[in-house]
Amino acid sequence: GVMSDITGLSKLEQQLQNKLGITKAIIVPGDSDQSPWIKRELGKACAVCMKNRLKAENIIAVTGGSTIAAVAEMLPPELGEKKLLFVPARGGLGHDVNNQASTISAIMASKTNSQHQVFYVPDQVSSEIYESFIKEPMVIEMLSLIKSADIVLHGIGDAITMAERRSTSPEVMDKIIKGNAVGEAFGYYFNEDGEIVHKVQTIGIQLTDLNEADFVIAVAGGASKAKAIRAYMKQAPESTILVTDEGAARILIRG
Ligand code: G3H
Repeated sequence: GVMSDITGLSKLEQQLQNKLGITKAIIVPGDSDQSPWIKRELGKACAVCMKNRLKAENIIAVTGGSTIAAVAEMLPPELGEKKLLFVPARGGLGHDVNNQASTISAIMASKTNSQHQVFYVPDQVSSEIYESFIKEPMVIEMLSLIKSADIVLHGIGDAITMAERRSTSPEVMDKIIKGNAVGEAFGYYFNEDGEIVHKVQTIGIQLTDLNEADFVIAVAGGASKAKAIRAYMKQAPESTILVTDEGAARILIRG
């Protein structure tokens, strides 16, 4: 019955958060690999989780991807009763505009009648461009805003899927494959031990910045992402809350 399913999942949540060494795990029924609408359930669960934790004023940094895009669609207007400022966690200009951090943060602001700030810089830049970009006053200002985020909302991807989605050069692809990368978050690629195999030069939030946030919500589901989630969680700050689905959770708990 429904009740035993619910208590079953909350037990699984307990086990999962202990196993991963994080603040909290929230599990929605189903598997987003099998049923795409489960991403919306992840989104709903994420919204509830945020609502319970908002302060009077909040800077919320968000990453890209289809999961965080689904979260944006599910944010209820009531969230905007608190003061919210959404910012993209990283600059990003790529092919799929709908799943970019800037677009998603704008949608989140519009869903909650809140503010957002755009940050239009290329997602992947050469080190020369990077060094000169980060000296620009506008970029410095935006970076300090992003790094002062109270809440970080991000996705986790399968390493190869993400590398293919970005226009990754053959050399970098080789490094990712040879390094046995399984997971990706914030442009960092991780192997099964949680070691960083490759890092995309991005302007925006870095892994160490996550320690400054009040809490970090990672939203990722589907059995196919279990390996990626497990790998990333070895690096994740303790303040992490994982919003996932049963498909991923049942594998994570076994491993
Ligand atoms: O960094 C990982 C990606 O944000 C995950 O993208 O939600 O479309 O699978 P996705």
